[in-house]
Amino acid sequence: MPSLLSAEETLLALEHEVCSYGDTVHYAANPKLFSRCEGSFLYDSHDHAYLDLQMWYSAVSLGYRHPRVNQAVKAQLDRLPQLACQYLHREKIELADRIAKSVEQRYGLKGRVQFNVGGSQAVEDALKLVRKFTGRQRMLAFQGGYHGRTLGASAITSSYRYREAFGTFADRAEFIPFPYRFRCPTGQTAEACTAYALEPLERMFQHEYTGVWNPKTGKTEFGACVIEAVQGTGGYIIPPKQYLIRLEELCRAHGILIVDDEIQMGFYRTGTLWAIEHFDIRPDIIIFGKALTNGLNPLSGIWAREELISPEQFGPGSTHSTFSANPLGTAAGLEVMKIFEEGDYGTTVQQKGSYFLNLLKDLKRRYPEIGDVDGLGLALRMEMCAADGLTPNRALTDRMFQRGLEGQLQTSQGPMGLILDIGGYYKNTITFAPSLEISYAEMNLAHELLDVLLRDCTGRR
Ligand SMILES: Cc1ncc(COP(=O)(O)O)c(C=O)c1O
Repeated sequence: MPSLLSAEETLLALEHEVCSYGDTVHYAANPKLFSRCEGSFLYDSHDHAYLDLQMWYSAVSLGYRHPRVNQAVKAQLDRLPQLACQYLHREKIELADRIAKSVEQRYGLKGRVQFNVGGSQAVEDALKLVRKFTGRQRMLAFQGGYHGRTLGASAITSSYRYREAFGTFADRAEFIPFPYRFRCPTGQTAEACTAYALEPLERMFQHEYTGVWNPKTGKTEFGACVIEAVQGTGGYIIPPKQYLIRLEELCRAHGILIVDDEIQMGFYRTGTLWAIEHFDIRPDIIIFGKALTNGLNPLSGIWAREELISPEQFGPGSTHSTFSANPLGTAAGLEVMKIFEEGDYGTTVQQKGSYFLNLLKDLKRRYPEIGDVDGLGLALRMEMCAADGLTPNRALTDRMFQRGLEGQLQTSQGPMGLILDIGGYYKNTITFAPSLEISYAEMNLAHELLDVLLRDCTGRR
């Protein structure tokens, strides 16, 4: 008897049986199957289009199936697709050189690059460097910060949710408040929120009884402060510059290194190669991943100051993973760096970002449920609230996410879907990371889609 199930239903039924639920697929009530992609769009098995405003958590920053990056990988595939990472290949060296030069040009610092596979693994390498150089295991990290889910990365990620089932984390970071203007209890100005977030940190170093430093030796327990210059998973929160400047002063005064996690915000997401460039502070270690290969291949890495990563300090065998510095990844990464160097992303991302932010501001004027919109380059946020514009509204945010995924929003171009991502402390923030190549027409379409979605989900006319 012929099966009554469609090919898609058969696959979904199989997934239900054979795939672990341990990843994030089943956050969604009805996980979605996609068949192809192009530029800013994903297509489902019925070839319905979905405008993607999150681009794989900012990994596909140059758009899906970017011709140059794809071509670089195809050429590598035909020449030297595989090579154990104990041997060298040209693309690895040239990519490391471009990254090292990018930091030297901006900060005048000499350093080296170590590649790895995923973001969390690069975080682990950064933590190793800090432990080796400072001899300290404890880290300062931020409430709302996210650095990955390996054991070491979980220890500096603020959510207890990710640690709860996995025993004791003796090296769990000290989580300090991030300056979050929209929800600052003492006021939404940069000054009020800076003072609020700094206070517990300043207090930590006022006397010995806070338990983290010795005023006689000047030594503190903390090896490094791990920051995302713009919080990613935390809800695309942009801190006031003065906060980070003071944070750096405090860290330098106490011998605490600055580890800059650029995994989500690096590679021009915010309009500069590294997001930290907006804030006039200097990193000791930079961690990167995601958009390095335009999401084509898992490749991540760290850059560190020579003093921390010199051959004497971080000798052969200090880290290793079979697929680190794999040639398909380094070929993609090298092409991505060339594209950034040849383009004018510093200008175009800022221009597109302010255009997109204005579209969000227009929606905010019309929907009281939008409590806050903000953005830096093409990292933008929209915080969904109750009609008071403040109380977090997770149910509305979930509804918007699900409705977008259904693919049936009625636009002037016919029915379409919308790919969104939810982040934020209260899971009520829509975090936008559109392609850096998004066109103005596509941004107008995003505005139309969000308007339809908001009308549908809020019931407002
Ligand atoms: C800022 C930041 N750090 C680390 C990670 C972990 O990277 P990965 O998921 O590649 O392990 C992520 C992933 O979302 C991230 O956004």
